Amino acid sequence: MNPQFQSKVYHSILPLLSKLPAHWQIHLASWGRQQFMHNFNQYQPKNSIIPQAKYGTKMWGIEFRAPLANSAGMFKNGEGYDTVAALGAGAYIGGTSTANPRTGNLKNGIALPFIGLYDSKAAINFLGLPNLGDEVLSQINITSNKIKGCPIGWSVMRSPDYDESEGLNKLIASLWLYHNHPQIDFIEINESCPNIKIGGGSIIPRLQIIAQEFLGKRTRKLPVVVKLSTDLTPEGLTPILQELIRLKFDGINLGNTSIDYTNIKPQLNSKDTQLFDYFTQNFGGGVSGLPLKNKSLELCAEASRLLSKLKPNHEFHIIRSGGIDCLADIEESRAHGISFNQWYTGFFNNYARDGDKVYSKLFSEA
Ligand SMILES: Cc1cc2nc3c(=O)[nH]c(=O)nc-3n(C[C@H](O)[C@H](O)[C@H](O)COP(=O)(O)O)c2cc1C
Repeated sequence: MNPQFQSKVYHSILPLLSKLPAHWQIHLASWGRQQFMHNFNQYQPKNSIIPQAKYGTKMWGIEFRAPLANSAGMFKNGEGYDTVAALGAGAYIGGTSTANPRTGNLKNGIALPFIGLYDSKAAINFLGLPNLGDEVLSQINITSNKIKGCPIGWSVMRSPDYDESEGLNKLIASLWLYHNHPQIDFIEINESCPNIKIGGGSIIPRLQIIAQEFLGKRTRKLPVVVKLSTDLTPEGLTPILQELIRLKFDGINLGNTSIDYTNIKPQLNSKDTQLFDYFTQNFGGGVSGLPLKNKSLELCAEASRLLSKLKPNHEFHIIRSGGIDCLADIEESRAHGISFNQWYTGFFNNYARDGDKVYSKLFSEA
């Protein structure tokens, strides 16, 4: 089935679904998301869209034909490159993967809990990093048709199934596995909530070990960026950014989903608040989409201000994710010195409306 049709049917029955008890809405949405993703990953659009040359950009000497790509977690097992490349994406990001295979969360009888809050252009997920593990994923062929201008990034994370030190050693071993994957152009280390304490915690010593054991020993060009939570405060960001630059990381991504429910709830459409309360009280989970738009911009703008003060003597980029859903967001990012954007929730909301034109429509909004 064409995934856009599937998505449209789902959106058209949402008013009916919203009459079900919250638990059943979440059950259906979680199951439906998995079916949809399976279908989407197999889907090959009839025509390949090539973004207008004026949107092309370069980071670390790598060409990106547009300043927008999926964010991590959409293609956890390295699926879907050919699909998004044909849609006109400016890059592809696989993962987040972990050293050990993980089945992800099963809670209250629901596997990989997820709910879309469509009136608020938001979503909440409590997936729990399902993936096949780095030994398998570092060996896969991501595509047989890699497209110039659509490079491949890989998101990897210290597995929560080991203590900090063992987890870090395993993460470093995984970084080497991806270093040896010939199709991967850059790495994103997922250091986001809930595995870091807001404001720093033990992230800095971990970054120092990664720099010593991996960054300084790379034998090919493989930029490494670190993705943090949008729940960071600008004050918490400063010492981490200073250290990332000092250690010669190649960029920062701000950022991941939020668990700052008190701040998010007032931003939601009142039609969604009951479902939001039910989900956050019974599962927890990270909020994505529109409620993160201002926060991701604020943090990235702060990072950009710091960067112009710190003046690194190597190429260091700011990547924004959180609430991106239109061209104005990309333009605002550029105006604030942000090099690249990623989207997840906005991508699927726009995809339901624009289908195969999801990227081309966005870039013709001007
Ligand atoms: C269903 C789902 C799964 C996600 N999985 C991951 C993941 O595995 N790794 C990661 O770094 N971020 C993950 N994220 C966070 C997104 O990559 C992104 O940072 C966040 O959703 C904010 O962007 P958005 O507002 O465009 O959705 C996930 C988000 C969603 C909605």
